[in-house]
Amino acid sequence: MIEMQGVYKQYPNGVNAINGINVRINQGEFVYVVGPSGAGKSTFIKMMYREEVPTSGTITMNGVNLAKLKTKKVPIFRRNLGVVFQDFKLLPTLTVYENVAFALEVIEAQPKFIQKRVMEVLDLVGLKNKARMFPSELSGGEQQRVSIARSIVNSPRVVIADEPTGNLDPDTSWEIVKIFEEINARGTTVVMATHNKDIVNTLKHRVIAIEGGKIVRDEQRGEYGYEN
Ligand SMILES: Nc1ncnc2c1ncn2[C@@H]1O[C@H](COP(=O)(O)OP(=O)(O)O)[C@@H](O)[C@H]1O
Ligand SMILES: [Mg+2]
Repeated sequence: MIEMQGVYKQYPNGVNAINGINVRINQGEFVYVVGPSGAGKSTFIKMMYREEVPTSGTITMNGVNLAKLKTKKVPIFRRNLGVVFQDFKLLPTLTVYENVAFALEVIEAQPKFIQKRVMEVLDLVGLKNKARMFPSELSGGEQQRVSIARSIVNSPRVVIADEPTGNLDPDTSWEIVKIFEEINARGTTVVMATHNKDIVNTLKHRVIAIEGGKIVRDEQRGEYGYEN
């Protein structure tokens, strides 16, 4: 469960990015975060994975109060969380396999388990046969699939994605979102900021709309609600 109470975020330059958010997301939900550019979507999401800390208010994530979490405990907290970015953020000198295995090597999982689990998640994203390739040898959609495989290899309870289809063409975007649906169908919470109107209006889920750092709409099976 993710819960925010009275959350405000002011950046050091004085910008008030989040202006009083109260929200609760239950385990297993699929949530789209929508709103205009500059609305505060990325800040909202960054606070969930403790990339940013709120100026005031509390954020509880799987029982941990992130506003008070000590910096040295952040890596352990992140193990229960998958994060996917618009620009993939893969390590260019590592193969597909190594990019995904990395998160398990860090926690010193058994080599046999690592091999089995990495191939399992690569299979789930349809890239089992490209395990030995490097990111530069893959299409954008394939690179995003690697980054999704990496995000779930630790079996996190929550996956957070900030505009994961922002750099992809429409067909590829659909493939990516279907993978998130599959992950969600297995019980993982998915929180996804997106500008993809077609996807939001077709694959219906909860929609949280943010404008000016506030939640202006929160609907189960909601609509995108903007022109684009
Ligand atoms: N690191 C930062 N420092 C200062 N201001 C920021 C920073 N990141 C975002 N902002 C500002 O905070 C507001 C919300 O930004 P953001 O959360 O990125 O919105 P969105 O993802 O909806 O486009 C914007 O006015 C943006 O310029
Ligand atoms: Mg953003």
